[in-house]
Amino acid sequence: MANVVVVGAQWGDEGKGKIVDWLSERADVIARFQGGHNAGHTLVVEGVTYKLHALPSGVVRGGKLSVIGNGVVLDPWHLMNEIETIRAQGVTISPETLMIAENTPLILPFHGELDRARESQNSVAKIGTTGRGIGPAYEDKVGRRVIRVADLADDATLELRVDRALVHHNALRNGLGLTPIDRDGLLAQLREIAPKVLEYAAPVWKVLDEKRKAGKRILFEGAQGALLDIDFGTYPFVTSSNVIAGQAATGTGIGPGAIDFVLGIVKAYTTRVGEGPFPTELLDEDGQRLGERGHEFGTTTGRKRRCGWFDATLVRQTCVTSGVTGIALTKLDVLDGFETLKICTGYELDGEVLDYLPTAADRQARCVPVYEEMPGWSESTEGARSWADLPAEAIKYVRRVEELIGAPVALLSTSPKREDTILVRDPFAD
Ligand code: IMP
Repeated sequence: MANVVVVGAQWGDEGKGKIVDWLSERADVIARFQGGHNAGHTLVVEGVTYKLHALPSGVVRGGKLSVIGNGVVLDPWHLMNEIETIRAQGVTISPETLMIAENTPLILPFHGELDRARESQNSVAKIGTTGRGIGPAYEDKVGRRVIRVADLADDATLELRVDRALVHHNALRNGLGLTPIDRDGLLAQLREIAPKVLEYAAPVWKVLDEKRKAGKRILFEGAQGALLDIDFGTYPFVTSSNVIAGQAATGTGIGPGAIDFVLGIVKAYTTRVGEGPFPTELLDEDGQRLGERGHEFGTTTGRKRRCGWFDATLVRQTCVTSGVTGIALTKLDVLDGFETLKICTGYELDGEVLDYLPTAADRQARCVPVYEEMPGWSESTEGARSWADLPAEAIKYVRRVEELIGAPVALLSTSPKREDTILVRDPFAD
């Protein structure tokens, strides 16, 4: 398998960082294809902890090419700060090791302001976003008024693009009671950052094609999770990009046929940050216990994550929409010590049992999870490195998860340490 896509199969925070790091060691190129610095990936490499938001996980490893694809929205000031922080940890980042697609849309300061203004002004409109301007930047991209990396190279084009964006944004800001954007100040900021960003600009679609033809292995690193997908997530409580695996193609410019393996990252229970439906949410002691044992606090915003039982119905759905080949099951050890575990297998709605989450918000709200109970285990699974290290009940739980979601386990992660992984099938190996 030459090309592997990694996607979160729930609401994000499935533990992608460790898995992506493990795979990036085997890859030649690591590409981000959606989202922005709303993501937060923590990597621990040789005892050093790196916190990445916009940069692909490959940057911390020497000899790899990291790519930011056109499907990403990029805050250039944040990126430069992140590059400086990672460099200060001794990592080399240069145009040879990092490339940014020329057609990548930029997140500008007014996108963040708009995001936060909307979140704070009106409780009806509240999504619980990360406040990083992700949504407003994607809106501008689709509205054909965003400034893209390539626009930074020519001053006349840049002025034109800024004016085009301001017509829209100043009208909007007026309605929200915000002051108009300082055009000259913004242009000065953009002119100052332009050469720093342009250093890394490249026709990424072409570079990836060349790499592919040279037999290089490409890892497409997803951010967030499939239930936050703009089309297939719990709309409107979603992020503003396509998160599912198909986006790896449109978000970098490779053809869909170039994807050989889709690895879905699945947490052994469920969490979500921000507002929105969550059928198996636990507001009791069990939920509290999952949060504490799983250290469920957001990497980007520090917010407490909502916790609940494993929802096989939702993961079965995301395995279909992302065409998942195999899953990496994470944080099984958080379930150690529960006497009984519950798995959601469907929803009861108006006297019927559904095997999927309906799209309409009112129907979603009325869905009652149908649970299957399984015995828990009292032994510790933390740090297990082979099936023989796992209690029989834990193996039964994993097998039942596979059966219910219709996808096999390729990797099982039993602690944040990279060695604590049970490998069933290496996505790059075939
Ligand atoms: P936005 O992406 O900042 O617009 O936020 C939209 C929704 O996606 C909110 O519910 C956020 O909490 C959620 N979200 C965005 N990025 C992540 C992530 O990396 N992990 C988990 N949730 C996320």
